[in-house]
Amino acid sequence: MRTLLAASLAAAIALPQAPFVATPQDVVDRMLELAVLRSSDVVYDLGCGDGRIVIAAAQRYGARGVGVDIDPQRIDEARRNAKAAGVAHLVTFRVEDALQTDVSEATVVTLYLVASLNARLRPRLMSQLRPGARIVSHNFPIGDWEPDTVHPFTSVDGQSRTLFRWNIR
Ligand SMILES: C[S@@+](CC[C@H](N)C(=O)[O-])C[C@H]1O[C@@H](n2cnc3c(N)ncnc32)[C@H](O)[C@@H]1O
Repeated sequence: MRTLLAASLAAAIALPQAPFVATPQDVVDRMLELAVLRSSDVVYDLGCGDGRIVIAAAQRYGARGVGVDIDPQRIDEARRNAKAAGVAHLVTFRVEDALQTDVSEATVVTLYLVASLNARLRPRLMSQLRPGARIVSHNFPIGDWEPDTVHPFTSVDGQSRTLFRWNIR
């Protein structure tokens, strides 16, 4: 009984806390611009979906990247997409809960999760990221952490969006 309970609890914890909704390419471009990406950057996308953000960072800027997602199907897709884009040597994708990800080597972290998950990630981001690192979040704040930049705009699909940027000091 106890084992059963533990197994169902573990399964519930591993469920995605943010659904898969891909960031449109024009919004990906803006996120990378807002991060002021350079080839020396290491980009972590927490909840990477089909991998498009780290793949774009590798293709356009030559940056190294790591994407983690709790859904193995997304990670399979991301790996296939990286191969097709010719950047598999620059990017790594892992099945992982973002709340367990070690982000200490990241110089840029991108997020398109939900506000509650962002808030739970905050202590990890604040303690592990080094000065000079940037966090860019699509549409969702990180608790009451005051962003350095708020960028509202309308994307190509006609939707109102907001990008938030935090600079680690
Ligand atoms: C809104 S999608 C964003 C995908 C991609 N970052 C993008 O912007 O196109 C959110 C992704 O986060 C993943 N996710 C949800 N909760 C997660 C968690 N705790 N750890 C890792 N990934 C998670 C989902 O499986 C989904 O693929």
